[in-house]
Amino acid sequence: VTGQKAALETVMTTQRAVRDLLPDPVDLGVVLDCIRLATHAPSGSNAQAWDWIVVTDEHVKRTISELNRPAAEAYAARSDTAPGVREGVAILAATMHHVPVIVIPCYRRSPDSASAHHSDAAYYGSIFPAVQNFLLALHARGLGATITTMALRRLGELRAVLALPDDVFPNAVIPVGWPRSPASRPPSRRPAWDVSHLDRYGIRFPRTDD
Ligand SMILES: Cc1cc2nc3c(=O)[nH]c(=O)nc-3n(C[C@H](O)[C@H](O)[C@H](O)COP(=O)(O)O)c2cc1C
Repeated sequence: VTGQKAALETVMTTQRAVRDLLPDPVDLGVVLDCIRLATHAPSGSNAQAWDWIVVTDEHVKRTISELNRPAAEAYAARSDTAPGVREGVAILAATMHHVPVIVIPCYRRSPDSASAHHSDAAYYGSIFPAVQNFLLALHARGLGATITTMALRRLGELRAVLALPDDVFPNAVIPVGWPRSPASRPPSRRPAWDVSHLDRYGIRFPRTDD
């Protein structure tokens, strides 16, 4: 494992949201292999109550694209969001039905489950570690993807087109494909010293160079 540290760090630090994807096909075996790696993630009680819907059907992709479009276009028209993200969201809104694969990670949840904070944390905390593993596995193979959630605003229609049972909830809509252009630069992130507190909120770490 020690020898793989640098490779893992490179994959982790260069993975980012890729919204401009080519329509070229992606081997479903590769997608399934990435789902295999995704599901090495933890889940509460190791329940592994996830279902991964891998969409290639043109009608389903077009429907999902239409569910994403209104919120994406509204977002792209806003002036209070980062221009790079806005531009990417607009490109994806216009091209989502052309991407080769859209993956919807779902997790089972009782439809009437309480919305207590601890239960939300346990619920989302049981699917998003796997989602991040999925993104990393795709990136390590040169594939691009983005977590999107805008189509979830049209939950009923999304559930219907995917034929989801009542206790299976979609948590993201992830277009997957080959990036149109090579990654520009590693994503910018707030430094660790700036986001960390020692023992109690407000006790800060000294500033470092990274
Ligand atoms: C919970 C969540 C929801 C997101 N929803 C959307 C979305 O609906 N549409 C979209 O294009 N990107 C969406 N993103 C992607 C973020 O905008 C992206 O991860 C962030 O800007 C960092 O991008 P970078 O890794 O390229 O720096 C979402 C990300 C997360 C974690």
